This record gives sequence, C-alpha cells and structure tokens, in this order.
Amino acid sequence: MCGIVGYVGPREATTIVFEGLRRLEYRGYDSAGVATLRGGRILVRRAEGKLSNLEHLLADQPINGHIAIGHTRWATHGAPSQRNAHPHTDCTGEITLIQNGIVENFLSLRQALQAEGHVFSSETDTEVIVHLVEKYVAQGCSLAEAGRRAFAQIKGAHAIVLLSSREPDTLVAARLGNAGGVTVGLGEGEMFLASDIPAILEHTRRMIFLEDRQMAVITPTGPQFFSLDGQAVEKSVTEIPWDPISAAKGTYRHFMQKEIYEQARSITDTLRGRIDFETGVVTLDELNLPPKAVSQIKEMVTVACGTSAYSGLVGKFMIEALARVPVEVDYGSEFRYRDPIVDQHTLVLAITQSGETVDTLAAMEEARQKGARLVSIVNVIGSMAQRISDGVILMHTGPEIGVASTKAFSASLVDQLLLGAYLGQARGTLADQDSRSLAQALAELPELAGRVLQDGYNDYETLAHDFHDREHFLFLGRGINYPIALEGALKLKEISYIHAEGYPAGEMKHGPIALIDESMPVVTIAVQDNVYDKMISQIEQVKARGGIVIAVAHEGDQVVRDKADYVLTIPRSHPLITPILAVLPMQLLAYYLAVRRGCDIDQPRNLAKSVTVE
Ligand code: G6P
Repeated sequence: MCGIVGYVGPREATTIVFEGLRRLEYRGYDSAGVATLRGGRILVRRAEGKLSNLEHLLADQPINGHIAIGHTRWATHGAPSQRNAHPHTDCTGEITLIQNGIVENFLSLRQALQAEGHVFSSETDTEVIVHLVEKYVAQGCSLAEAGRRAFAQIKGAHAIVLLSSREPDTLVAARLGNAGGVTVGLGEGEMFLASDIPAILEHTRRMIFLEDRQMAVITPTGPQFFSLDGQAVEKSVTEIPWDPISAAKGTYRHFMQKEIYEQARSITDTLRGRIDFETGVVTLDELNLPPKAVSQIKEMVTVACGTSAYSGLVGKFMIEALARVPVEVDYGSEFRYRDPIVDQHTLVLAITQSGETVDTLAAMEEARQKGARLVSIVNVIGSMAQRISDGVILMHTGPEIGVASTKAFSASLVDQLLLGAYLGQARGTLADQDSRSLAQALAELPELAGRVLQDGYNDYETLAHDFHDREHFLFLGRGINYPIALEGALKLKEISYIHAEGYPAGEMKHGPIALIDESMPVVTIAVQDNVYDKMISQIEQVKARGGIVIAVAHEGDQVVRDKADYVLTIPRSHPLITPILAVLPMQLLAYYLAVRRGCDIDQPRNLAKSVTVE
C-alpha cells in the first residue's frame, strides 16, 4: 500500500524522488522518508504525517545526491512515527531500504538477528530485511547477492529497494508476490523506479515491470534482471500511452473532483474503437476469447474488491441480460478462502483499477489453479492482473489518483456492457436489432454523462448545506440500480465519514425501516424502469414514517418530484446504461458533502488507493 520511488543518474536525485512521492501520496500518508548518498555516506530524512512534513524537513535540512530512494508509508507493524518511517538503515549505516509488504516471519528473524548482535531502531517488520542484507554484505556478498539471500529468508509478499554506500551507482529492487508493483523506468543515462507509473511518468514512458520473484540491479546505464534463484532474465519494454498531464490535478481542487468531471471524456475513450455504432458489433481484440472459447463457457464468476466489486454486481445484470450466461460476483477476499466451484467451463472476470489489489490477485490465482479461463478489466497498463490474465479489456480511463474510485467505476461498467454484448453476439443471444439499439445508446452516453456533470444541472450545494451535519444516510435501489445504491453509500462513507448503508429497496421493510425518522436522509434511485412502481411505493413508505427522501429520477418525472423532498435528475437512456448515469449524482453528492464537512477528499483517513496487504 506504500509508495516507492527510486532514481539513479546525473540529476538531483532527492528532488526527483520527492516529486515522485508527491504523485504517490495517495498510496499512504502517515509518514514518509527519503535517502541519498553524499560523500560516501548515506543520508536519510524521515517525517511523521503527511508529505508536507517531509518537504519542510528537506527544506530545513536538505540532502542532495545522484542516487536516492523514497517512501510514503501506510502503517502495518509499528505506529506511524518518524522512527518507523522508511528508509530503514542497518547497524553500519551503509545500507538503507524501503519496502512495501509485511514480513510475516519478522519476529523469529528479529530475535535471531538480535542474538547475533544487530541493534534495531524501529518497531517495524521491515527493519529485519536491512539487517539480513547487512549480514550477507559483511560476509563479502555484493548488494544484489546479499539482497537475494535475504529475500529468500523472508515470508510474505514484498516490493523492496536497496541502496548501499558500498555501491554508489546501484539500486537493487525486488518483487516477491503481490505486494504491489515494481516498475523500472528507462531514461537516457538515468534510471527510475516506482511502485506506480504516475510517479515517474513525466520522465519516461518506457517501463519494465518486475514479475513475482524477480530482481532488478539498476545503474545509470541500464537495468539487469534476475530471478530470485540468481538466473539472468530477459524482459521486454512497455510503452505507456498515458500522458503525464493526465496524472496532474490541473485547475481542479481535488483529484476526485477532476476524475468525476472527466467521465464524459473517459467514457468516450473506453468506447473508442470497440463498437461499431451502426451495426452494434463489438470487437475486443485483447480479450483473447475467440468464438470457440466463448462456446465453452457455462458460467462466469466476477472477482473484485471495493468499488470494483460493486461494478461487478452491476455487470452481472448487464452480462446476464445480453449473453444469458449466469454470473456470480464475489469479493476477492472471500472467493480465495471458500474452495470455489469453478472449472475450465468457468470464465473468471477480475475487475481491478490498479491491477494490484492483493485479494483480487489471489482470487485470480485460485481460479487459475482450478483451470478457469481468466480475463480482467484493468486500468493500470502492465499491472499484475493484466499480466496474469488470458485476456484483458483495458479501461482506457487514464490514471486515477483520487483514493475513492469514480471514473474507473464508470469505465468498468462500459467495459462490462461491451463484454456482455461481445459474448451475446458470439453466443447468438443478442439479436441484431438489440445490438444496434445498445450501440446507439452507447453512442449517446458521453453526451448524456456530460449533461449530468454540467454546472447547475443538479443542485448539490443545497444538499450539502442541508445535510452535512447528518450522522447516517440510507441508499436504496432495486434491480440493476441496487449496486448503485451500494456504491453511493460507499462513496459517502469513504470521503465524508458519514455512516451510510446501501440496501436493496425491497428489503427495507425487513430491517432498515426501523431506522427511518425525520433526521435520516434516504437516497432512492427511482428511475422509470421495470421496478419504477415498486420504487415509488418505497418512497411512500419512507415518507409515511417522516423520512427525508432524496430521489434520483429521470428528467421530467413529476410523480417523483411531487413525492420526494429533493430530486437529482438524470437523462433517460437504455435501461442497461442507466446505472452509468445514476452513479454520477451519487459521486457528486458524496463529494459536495465531504467538501462541506472539510474532509480530506483525496487522502481520506485510513484508506489507500491500492490495497496490497491482506
Ligand atoms: C481500495 C480503494 C478503492 C478501490 C478498491 C479496489 O479500497 O480505496 O477505491 O475500489 O481498493 O481497488 P482496485 O484497484 O482493485 O479496483
């Protein structure tokens, strides 16, 4: 979950690393640190709290060099504090290290190292690694060899970078399991390292990704790659199409705000080249799922976490309607531990913005072992999820930086619609006329999304004013819009810390109805679809108990306007597309409420963008 950056080359290394950390602050923000080499000595600066504290420290006590590593921490072992912040340094002061992951056997290693005389200066699990490296360096190993031996002894998943004053031009990096990515960025006479692409995107788009149990030894002239058993490995370079500007906040106040308002554009990018808007025929080349493979599919299982899991729940409705394949949706963290029933006739779909969420990756591995065919919907190009899948549908939404996912949600819904149509066309369950009308509706979608996002289309300021002091919210939806209620509640609690529950509207009478009173806003998605009448009666039931109704309704729906206390409108569209429009007011409602409450929108407490620990 932590952010990692490294640099070696002629330029001012701590500046480059610090700028990279700034772009990774969403990874973790309880402490941060950098280390560099100067005059044959390792210099470290670490600060508790946000990156701005490290910035002030570096301004007061600058350190400059031509090789540096940096880290933003999301604490696991040891409270957030300066002494627990990375980089961690060995007893000699010659070796320093940053890491992402948990050393599962750290207690026994720590006791053994202490018995050998090593002195620990933090409470972290991480520190054992640097002392292990120290031990092997003392035995005469190079930094890479000492790292390799140390890495063989630690359990768990890790991304690690080492720097030593004994080898002043070398960074050693390793990936063990799924603790997040390790990306080597190739420059001219300079090299970069990062856990995430946006950290180094302004310097290079040529990147190489470490696989599980691979190491990189990086000098300014280039990287060399090895497996953890010491064999040299050939790696290929990926050109990243992302524009560095797309990873910048621009004139927006928050990344989340920017990403919400970008959705008309990002939906266009997701659709581009994949559907013929005249005929409705869908082409998904990278999915690698020819008609013969489609004919063997008997069922689908979607695995994902957080917002991506809710996207999967909406996708279930889309894919079942278009392709008539049963779809089960499971959290990655649940699927992996329940001995799931999947085989070679199961298509397992992983949805993951980052492509690095550890529970989703573990679920994918579980499915792979059971012989399922594995495809993924991924945003981050070159991520682990993409690499271990048989096929992929990229979101094409550009980097998503805000911790609370927004544009990746709408992009993954569009991708699932395309997948459903593709499967339906291959299986013959989708009539040509239905393909055409879906395509027509998709063609109009960016414009409709743009309309919902226009200034003044809905009045969120009034809602923020009237409800920012509430403790609880209830979100109700039904059918394909039920998961949108779940997502609306998730967005609100993530960034505003208001307790919110999403519920299938028909279940309200079996529990949540007891909570309704004049202080609790109930957000209902009451669009004119096949369950519209049912939603109207839910609104009546809430009103009969003195509740406050904020309804998401179609433009011009006077019935809802007369019954609800507040209305957020969306334009009419194809029923399978409606959730993509209905989620936009949910995102904006959460955003405006959180801003009004003075919350830290892009770095909500305790959350992280990529969850790479279990
Ligand atoms: C974290 C993020 C969420 C995200 C979830 C899954 O919890 O804070 O915004 O939805 O991880 O992430 P993924 O990258 O797998 O979609």
